Amino acid sequence: MEISKSSVDNGAEERERLVSTLPMRQGFWKPYVLYQGYWMSPQVAKSVMLLQDQFKPRADDIILATCPKSGTIWLKALAFTLVNRSCHAVAGDGHPLLTTTPHDLVPFIEKPDREIHPVTELEALASPRLLATHMPFAQLPQSISDLGCRVVYICREPKDVLVSLWHYVNTVSDHFIELEKAFELFSQGGSFFGPVWDHSLGYWKQSIAEPHRVMFLKYEELMADPAKHVKNLAEFLGVPFTVDEVELGAVEQVVDLCSFHKLKNLPVNSSGKSDLAGWMPMDNSSYFRTGTVGDWANHLTQEMAHKLDSIVQDKLKGSGLTF
Ligand code: A3P
Repeated sequence: MEISKSSVDNGAEERERLVSTLPMRQGFWKPYVLYQGYWMSPQVAKSVMLLQDQFKPRADDIILATCPKSGTIWLKALAFTLVNRSCHAVAGDGHPLLTTTPHDLVPFIEKPDREIHPVTELEALASPRLLATHMPFAQLPQSISDLGCRVVYICREPKDVLVSLWHYVNTVSDHFIELEKAFELFSQGGSFFGPVWDHSLGYWKQSIAEPHRVMFLKYEELMADPAKHVKNLAEFLGVPFTVDEVELGAVEQVVDLCSFHKLKNLPVNSSGKSDLAGWMPMDNSSYFRTGTVGDWANHLTQEMAHKLDSIVQDKLKGSGLTF
């Protein structure tokens, strides 16, 4: 039985009850429930319900949205650096990214344990807020659209998402999942916030309907020409590069500071921990693996690749979105 947003109650007990009524299946790590068409852990489903009910967006909020393992940390680093470059010199020794992981600079709104870390934590943040989410477009509180909050989404080639997710789960959890099993779950749409194709499609359609409010990026395109997309992102975020900045190489400085190799090798990201979930500190290094396009070819068989390609093509048919 699917639950509608309007039926979600304020109380923890009611959320607990609603979650217990949701369809459940094996997840990559822990079991997942199906909430409003997407698979997630029961804890995250409760957090999404709570957010849908209690989150108070502000018109100048910027929401960074991703399906897990699609470049979340990269987008957080880029957006943070762009919008704060008047107070934090990109090439300066004291830039926050040098000592703080992007996940700690740009919080997730649906932190899994929002009952311990209440939404008021977000209300304490100064405007304009940069916030992140893994929620699909259809699950975002309607007030985000009504207020006209800008949303930036980054998607990634699903085969690379699968391989990245598979490595991640086997790195951070004490549970080992075979690649064949991960492939099966992923292809059935049963990955974290999957189906991944529906997740991307929701934001894709909205970016076509509202191009000035919803920006749609692809990991592969950002990797191929970061300067071009970083310039576009700066414009979208309302902080365009000046002619002088461009001439002085500011775009390249942002690209370099947020590059995979630069971030991965910083002590904060190679040895620190952060507690994204609010209940389990994880090694920051687990968010930086290869940072490449096409690593799937080193792990998936041709048969797996063809099968997933044809599922994704079928699901995206006619939308204009391709990988
Ligand atoms: P791989 O596992 O393929 O290396 P997310 O941030 O959504 O969890 O995504 C994690 C993926 O993004 C990982 O992919 C990680 O290595 C990669 N990544 C992390 N930082 C990056 C950066 N600055 N540039 C490009 N990719 C990055």
